[in-house]
Amino acid sequence: MIRQDIIDSAVKALFNGIEFTSEPSGLYDPLRYMIAIGGKRLRPRLCLTTYSLYQDAFCPEILEPAAGLEVFHSFTLIHDDIMDRSPLRRGVDTVWKKWSPDTAILSGDVMCIDSYARVARAPHECLDEVLALFSKTAAQVCEGQQYDMEFEGRDTVQMDEYMDMIGLKTGVLIACAAKMGALIGGASKEDCENLYDYGYNLGLAFQVADDFLDVFGDEKVFGKPIGGDIVNSKKSWLTVKAFEKAEGGAARDLKEAMAMPVGTPEQKEAKINRVRGLYQELGVGKDAQVAILRLNAKALEAAYKSCDGARFEVLHHFADKLIGRTK
Ligand code: IPE
Ligand code: IPE
Ligand code: MG
Ligand code: MG
Ligand code: MG
Repeated sequence: MIRQDIIDSAVKALFNGIEFTSEPSGLYDPLRYMIAIGGKRLRPRLCLTTYSLYQDAFCPEILEPAAGLEVFHSFTLIHDDIMDRSPLRRGVDTVWKKWSPDTAILSGDVMCIDSYARVARAPHECLDEVLALFSKTAAQVCEGQQYDMEFEGRDTVQMDEYMDMIGLKTGVLIACAAKMGALIGGASKEDCENLYDYGYNLGLAFQVADDFLDVFGDEKVFGKPIGGDIVNSKKSWLTVKAFEKAEGGAARDLKEAMAMPVGTPEQKEAKINRVRGLYQELGVGKDAQVAILRLNAKALEAAYKSCDGARFEVLHHFADKLIGRTK
């Protein structure tokens, strides 16, 4: 096993020392910016953590793929911010806002390519499997993003459809990170699958928490605009649950609130306040917290099938930190 403080330093060193092509700077500067502005580095950290359950030291064959996961994730965020018309990310301007949507598209594209080059540094013995896992995951993230966008235009979405959508847009990449670390670490097939399930359920919990914070979080800590999901008529966990619970007049109110105009800043604020008020009346914020704990427990059940003692504690600690997120 590798100690937590060593994992933390490895993650820091990885992104302090990361290098990208320099010219043309108009293409690569946004990419460098996106990595430099930080973020929680959750996916590489998870990848190194599951690897550490099977190995005693890091080498480039795990560090480069772990970095590739973060580069890929950051690429999806650059494109996601265009799609969600979001001006703020990690507390600073988004790439499309700071440069332009065209720049964000192309810098995102080259970032995706860069991520593949890094993941392809995995050891020869498991390279085919790692690349197959990564490619499947990358396509699934696009599928999830497509459903997310399609749901904006629908009146209602069922909870199982929502869970499938977040499983694709968010769950699979976190699952992939957990499995990739185990795979490169030399874990058994069974352990790899259990750790995949652990990551998948953690990812679901993570996205429900993200939806909660989008409405009830603190913008300064969260680093993203509060209420963006409401403005975009996203079918977040809170929206889906609210429609599930609302009856009669409350259901009508909610439908009306979701259809409010958002053409001006004042209209946006009015819609956010109205929808947030209805969420509060229906108590869906509390329901989300319960759902997060349930998904976290499910993740730990999967982890426990493969890991006990100190190794389970590592995964337990990781999960607890993640669900206690405020950013
Ligand atoms: C944001 O991911 C997108 C979601 C899946 C909710 P993170 O919350 O991991 O973003 P950063 O990398 O820390 O900025
Ligand atoms: C997750 O969804 C985005 C991706 C999987 C790329 P969100 O749209 O909720 O992510 P944030 O809130 O903008 O980070
Ligand atoms: Mg989105
Ligand atoms: Mg978004
Ligand atoms: Mg969000």
